[in-house]
Order: sequence, then C-alpha cells, then structure tokens
Amino acid sequence: MRAVPASPPVPVVSRSFDVLVIGSGIAGLSFALKVAQLGHSVAILTKKNKADSNTNWAQGGIAVVTAETDDFAKHVEDTLVAGDGLCDRAVVKQIIRDGPARIRELVELGLKFSRDHDGEYDLGREGGHSERRILHVKDMTGKAIENALLKSIAREPRVSLFEHVFAIDVVTTGKLAGLVAGKKTARKPAAGASDAAPNRIAGVYALDVRDGRVRTFHAPVVMLSTGGAGQVYLYTTNPDIATGDGIAMAYRAGVEVRNMEFIQFHPTALYSLSGKRFLISEAVRGEGAILRNAEGEAFMTRYHPLADLAPRDIVARAIDAEMKRTGAPHVWLDITHRNAAFLRERFPQIYRFCAAEGIDIAKDKIPVVPAAHYTCGGVATTTAAETSLAGLYACGEVACTGLHGANRLASNSLLEAVVMAHRGAASVNAYLRQARKTAAPALVIPDWKDHHAGDEDERVVLAHNWDELRRTLWDYVSIMRTTKRLERARTRIANLSREIQEYYWNFSVDPRLLELRNLVQVAELIVECALQRRESRGLHAIADYPKKQRRAESSKLRRKGG
Ligand code: SIN
Repeated sequence: MRAVPASPPVPVVSRSFDVLVIGSGIAGLSFALKVAQLGHSVAILTKKNKADSNTNWAQGGIAVVTAETDDFAKHVEDTLVAGDGLCDRAVVKQIIRDGPARIRELVELGLKFSRDHDGEYDLGREGGHSERRILHVKDMTGKAIENALLKSIAREPRVSLFEHVFAIDVVTTGKLAGLVAGKKTARKPAAGASDAAPNRIAGVYALDVRDGRVRTFHAPVVMLSTGGAGQVYLYTTNPDIATGDGIAMAYRAGVEVRNMEFIQFHPTALYSLSGKRFLISEAVRGEGAILRNAEGEAFMTRYHPLADLAPRDIVARAIDAEMKRTGAPHVWLDITHRNAAFLRERFPQIYRFCAAEGIDIAKDKIPVVPAAHYTCGGVATTTAAETSLAGLYACGEVACTGLHGANRLASNSLLEAVVMAHRGAASVNAYLRQARKTAAPALVIPDWKDHHAGDEDERVVLAHNWDELRRTLWDYVSIMRTTKRLERARTRIANLSREIQEYYWNFSVDPRLLELRNLVQVAELIVECALQRRESRGLHAIADYPKKQRRAESSKLRRKGG
C-alpha cells in the first residue's frame, strides 16, 4: 500500500474553529470529514504524525452484516454474548444496523475490501462470531481505511490538520481548573462565561511539540477521538500513542467515565524478548490456526465448545492458566497445516514480520502470549456521541457507548468508530446550529500560565515512573485479579499521582510528561472501577468474587466537583 505523502508542517497559532477533533484515527478522521461537509470549520490536533493511530495497527477488519446467510439478529446476539450481560441492547442494535450504510461510504471513498475468486467479499471469521462477517483488506485493514480517509481529508478545505500538537486539557466555561503536570492553569472562568450558565466547552490548551509552546484553540465543540490506553500496561499490542489522553482529559473536566476495568487482552501477540508485542490477528485462528501448550496439546477444547474461536476473554484466560500451569513463557499458535502461498496472500504483514523474526509460519509454530489490546470502557456517551459536558463529544475507543459491555466482540471497534463518527457529526451539526441561534457571548480563554522555573530535577525520573506504572498494572491489574493485588496497585499509583502533582511542578511541559500524567489518571480509573466490581464478568476476572452478580451494572466514575 502506498503511503499518503506527508504534508508540510502547519505553523500553529492560537485560532478559532467550529470544531476541534483530538486524534487522527478512523473515528476522528471520519467525523472531521463529515462535520466539515456539513459546513463547519474543523481543526484536527494530533500529537504525532497524522497516520500514527491505533487504526493503523488494526489487522482484523470490520464486523458487518453483508452475507446472505447472516442477519442483524445474529450479529446482535454474538455481541451480547461476548459482552457478558453488560451491553446496552438498544445501542448494539443501532450500531449494527447502521453498519452496511457506513461500509458503502468507505467503498465510495475508494476502499477495496479483499474479495474471493468469485468477486464476493472474502469474509473473515474471528472469535465469538457465529458467521463469517469480517470485511478486511488482507491483514492491513486499519492502514487501508486510514489512508483512504487521509486522502479525502487532504481535499477538504474546511479541515486544518495540525501534526505534533498535543491537546493538554479541555477548557470549559465553568470553574473546573486543570492541573497540568503540577502546573495550575488559569483558575478563573473563561471571559464571557457566566456562573449561572451551564458548563460548556470553550476550547483546549495544546502543546506545540516542535517549539514547546502551549497554544490556545477556541471552539464550542471538541470531539475526543484519541483511542485507547494500552500503553498503561507493560505489554501491549497498541502503538506508543495509546496513552488514554482523551479519557484522562474528560475525567479531569468532570465528565463521567464508565467500565474502565474491562481491559481486553488479545490472546495472541507474538512473544519476543524485545518486549514489543506484535499482533497475530485472530483471523489466523479464523483460518484454522490452533493454540497448543508447551506439551503440544490443543488445549482450547478443554475450555470452551468454540475452542480456539471462543470469545477473547476466555481464550486469554485459558492461555494465562496454561502458562501458569506449565511454567512456559508462552504458548504456541500452529497454522502449519495451511500452505505458504495462502498464508503469504491472506496475511502478508504477519508473514513478513514473523519471517523477519526467524519464524516461517508455514513451517514453524508461532510463540504467542496475551497482551493488553483494547479499552472497552471510556468516556460515557450517548448514541449521538454526546458526553455529560455540553460541547464535548467522544467517539471510537476513547468512548463507552454500551456496545462492548464487559468484553468487545472482535472487529466491532472499527464498526463502532465509523457509525459513531457519522452519528456524532449529525448531533454536532444540530448543536452548533442551536448555539448560533442563542448567540452566546464570544469566549476568550486566558493564555496558558507557564510555571516553569527552570530548576527541574533529573528528567530520567520520568522514564522510571513510566516503567513503574506499566509494570504495576501488568503485575497487579492483569488477566486474573485479586482484591489484594488491586489494593497494592492503588497504593503505588497514588504515589505516582502525588509525584505528578508535586515533583513535576517545575518541569517544562513535554509529551512524555503529559502522557505520564494521563496514564497515571487512567490507571487510577482502571483500579477504582475494578475495585467497585465485586463479581467476575467478561474481562474482569477476580479470584475473590468468582461468580457473576444477578444484576449487571456499569461501573461509573466522575471527578468530585465535576
Ligand atoms: C485481530 O485482528 O485479532 C484484532 C482485531 C480486533 O481487535 O478487533
């Protein structure tokens, strides 16, 4: 696939837009395109390059009903079963029904999903799906969608894309003040705001990574589409950017966050001594790969009737149990019964990556381990992508709509991203039109106050804190939990949180510090939600409470005073 050429750097000045989009994955780009086509000016802020997103790493594809043998009811049922009683049925139906229309739009943008020899869609199968329904572009679906969207965005004059601009905090008209890496931002309400008026979005503070200056972006609407938070764990399939920025920002602004304990561990990441965890798509098992333990046994038949294609939480826990039982550092994924030509064609990226690691997947078994993969909870939203704060919206992995419940069905996330981006664009359009009618006073956000006194201590401590946090989550908040372990994690995270507020006060703001601040915030949310849930459900397995409660309820957190 040819990469989209990089655009020249856009000079960042403080500016006003109708809409700010934070993040440049499939959710953010789809939304930006649609809301711009409705006539609004849009700025996309992305902390790295525009193509650095979780989307780019998505191998599997988009789960959507297209086959004659399939229907919406089956897809709904599979989603509800995977979600283990915690999905919102109405949301699930809505998102699944909207799927085919959104896929047609992607095809109109030029996306070419893989087809079989008869020219029909080559539908993949993944864990928990009762039908083959995964549309894919070989094993590079995310990259293909991202490229198609970036090309369309480049042609849209109402969209400005700012690379290397890191959104620090949303600014609201209310009294909530952000704490920025130990630096207090202006505490007074944005000029033009009145105490009596409901709290709403005024814009964001964002760091221009290239010159280290903090800028102000004014807008009545902010769409968070920053993806998930896999980097809070030592081992993850996620790219480096997945540091939970949107979830942390929303929480700091007093917005409700839900179900953060449900972190999905992908069962099959390539085991490598480097510590990096390259994803081996579940679609490989969809094409017949079998998991084997250190003794060579195909163990999944002992754990679930669907064996290797059981829902992900069950497969990940089974692998964890087998590794603990045998003492082996990984299990094996065996696809050696398929020939090399098929594997090269269907999984070119996986084939190449494994070959570079010295593994010929047509001949050798692949060493695999679970790794943190997807944040099922997040910023609570309606099916119109609205959060509890007027003007703040969220879509994609950062959001919690009620689709995934306690465990996401494979390949439902790209579907949710495109559907919610579309629905979000419609609701933002209505919000902006209404806001124009009521003619609220123009808001002026005070400039960022820099507290950098130049007497910062060693920066290496930042790296130590990153390691400590990610190791803590991996050791104490992983696939199998106990209350004692969660409490140990809580104490350690509280220490880190205190350091963020005190130790780093004099540090100049930089991306690693901002990310650490967000990761610590997200870690707190994961642990607090996990301690709230006194049952084992979906991805949250806790030895002290092995049973499910009769009533399924979402865990909810909202910052006091928010
Ligand atoms: C995979 O290809 O196994 C990952 C797809 C997903 O997480 O939905």
